[in-house]
Amino acid sequence: MAFEIVATGHYVPANRVTNDDLARTIDTSDEWIRSHTGIGSRHVAAENEASSDLAFQAALNALEQLSPGNPMEAAQTIDLVVVGTSSPDYYGFPSCACIVQDKLKLEKIGAFDVVAACSGFVYSLDAAAGMLRHGRKRALVIGTDVLTKITDWSDRGTCVLFGDAAGAAILDKTDAPEEGPGRRGIIRSILGSEGAGAQELMCERGGTRNPYKAGETLDKGIVLSMNGQAVYNFAVRAFTDTIQDLLDLEGLSVDDVKKIIPHQANMRIIRAAARRLKIPEDKFFMNIEKYANTSNATIPVALDEYARSGDLQRGDLIMTVGFGGGLTYAGNLMVW
Ligand code: ACO
Repeated sequence: MAFEIVATGHYVPANRVTNDDLARTIDTSDEWIRSHTGIGSRHVAAENEASSDLAFQAALNALEQLSPGNPMEAAQTIDLVVVGTSSPDYYGFPSCACIVQDKLKLEKIGAFDVVAACSGFVYSLDAAAGMLRHGRKRALVIGTDVLTKITDWSDRGTCVLFGDAAGAAILDKTDAPEEGPGRRGIIRSILGSEGAGAQELMCERGGTRNPYKAGETLDKGIVLSMNGQAVYNFAVRAFTDTIQDLLDLEGLSVDDVKKIIPHQANMRIIRAAARRLKIPEDKFFMNIEKYANTSNATIPVALDEYARSGDLQRGDLIMTVGFGGGLTYAGNLMVW
């Protein structure tokens, strides 16, 4: 039995905001943002768009591959919905996954969110594969975020980094071998966490530790804060180690891997890791220039763009690698 991605999709909101657009409202420049991050623009959700709306569109885009012209019909074959998100429509409940389940008119299936920041999609894939082992056949796995609604737009150290998007994958339990010659699907995952670094990237207000109190006046919205340098150092280390560990555990070399689909947080993180691992930069599929850091969505959006590029063939070995708030890190090794 193997756990294989059989379709992918993505969605970005219509409103594209360039670095030059940002430079009109805050003290920054296209040159600074590009040279420090590799970001050229980002898409920003509309006032009436929340994470589940993006997730639903990404799901339809993936389902369209299974049933062209009738994605809602293909949806009826799903028996599990797992959504990685750090910006759900509502605090605590309902989960984003339940809202997506309802939008897809699904009934009597499990649906839940995974909270692992930018590693969330990688965690979600592994969670879904584990749950498919027990009876279920097909999972819809989504990474979605609207971080621009929890971003401090006066903080140039963070607001230039993020964008909104969703990516989706349909994960099937198939009869292909999971091990040995001809193996397919997810062959190994690494999931990691370093909660000691929790304060380096967090949404400090709004939760039960520090709730909003009726009548309280906030000087800014409930927004994320980040120690950029600390996260950068963690990211390079965790990213490098995850790639190396996945290869070592399977007795593989980087030459065996066709493409690495990394979390798109900063081009400089990828370059630093590529130098350390002596991997050519073009081994990484990058689209940060267009979308910026869309948190849970970066990996599935990139995976979808790569899958549709025509370069990804059945039998290719690829790797996803994520890192983010928590702090968390994770990677999947899979044969397409
Ligand atoms: N425009 C212009 N200048 C800026 C900007 C900006 N947008 N932001 C910061 N600066 C200035 C600073 O004020 C500072 O000026 P000073 O030297 O006069 O004090 C200077 O640029 C350098 O600032 P640094 O913070 O040292 O810049 P750095 O090179 O470290 O880059 C960055 C900052 C891009 C945030 C980097 O630290 C980084 O990428 N960190 C990792 C972030 C990350 O990956 N986060 C995502 C995790 S994923 C998740 O879970 C959401």
